[in-house]
Amino acid sequence: MIKPKHILSLQDFTEDELEDLLTFAAQLKIERSNIDRNKLLVGKTIAMIFSKASTRTRVSFQAGIYELGGNSLFLDHNDLQLGRGESMSDTAKVLNRYIHAVVIRTHKHESLVEYAQHSTIPVINALTDKFHPCQLLADLLTIKVNSGRLEGIKVAYLGDGASNMAYSWAVAAKLAGIELRIGAPSRFQPDLSFTESLSGKGVVIVTDDPHQAVKDVDYIYTDVWVSMGFESEVEEREKLLMPYQVNNQIVKSASSGVKIMHCLPAKRGQEITSDVLDGPRSIIWDEAENRLHVQKAVLAKLVAD
Ligand code: CP
Repeated sequence: MIKPKHILSLQDFTEDELEDLLTFAAQLKIERSNIDRNKLLVGKTIAMIFSKASTRTRVSFQAGIYELGGNSLFLDHNDLQLGRGESMSDTAKVLNRYIHAVVIRTHKHESLVEYAQHSTIPVINALTDKFHPCQLLADLLTIKVNSGRLEGIKVAYLGDGASNMAYSWAVAAKLAGIELRIGAPSRFQPDLSFTESLSGKGVVIVTDDPHQAVKDVDYIYTDVWVSMGFESEVEEREKLLMPYQVNNQIVKSASSGVKIMHCLPAKRGQEITSDVLDGPRSIIWDEAENRLHVQKAVLAKLVAD
């Protein structure tokens, strides 16, 4: 594999690199119980700089680094001089001298890009306002394990179609040959100049009809309607997005074998009902587990000797 130096979005992958990474992640998943086999990060320190809350990303990265024999440093943004105004670029120039990779969760994607421009070690995006590539890698692994392939798979993304997850899904679908249908009201549809600029063999379709979006799809995907930073829009979002709730009625409009996905955390009763989230079609907990396996694969590919 030609190693992408940084993973800021899935646009940093070629089709072959994506395939290679998912194959390696599937192997790590199978071999997890063999704890001595994949100590690929011995002697390596990975810093995790987070300026937003996290359960899955934080814990799966830290557990994964431990399983690979490496050392993780969890650094709350406010515990660093970053919280007192030191720039991303100066922070990068210093951390370059100490550690082997950095995982960053921050607000503005531009801040991550600024860090990466000054980093001589791999930078991995753990979520920004634009993209969440580690989540998408886990989602693609989950689909590959379930369906045995990615190309030709149909996925409906319902809810906020202008969110970091929807944009990440658009990139992933084009790269992996997936037909992505984004079902969202006009106020929350993606910027078409972005989706149409993407290259790859997949297709991205945008519709305001949630039942049309899920017709014959293999997977229905959703995410919270009010992401961190959009709390002032709660009422508007709840009103406009309720027709896009993933509930039993929507599930009935899809194919009989449809599976349900959600990146979590979920707001039960808003974007998804509890009976669907906990129901027999849900593969949401496997999806959460797969964060661990794909991130181990990412770190091993980027950092191991
Ligand atoms: N899906 C996801 O990134 O979860 P966390 O915010 O808990 O890390």
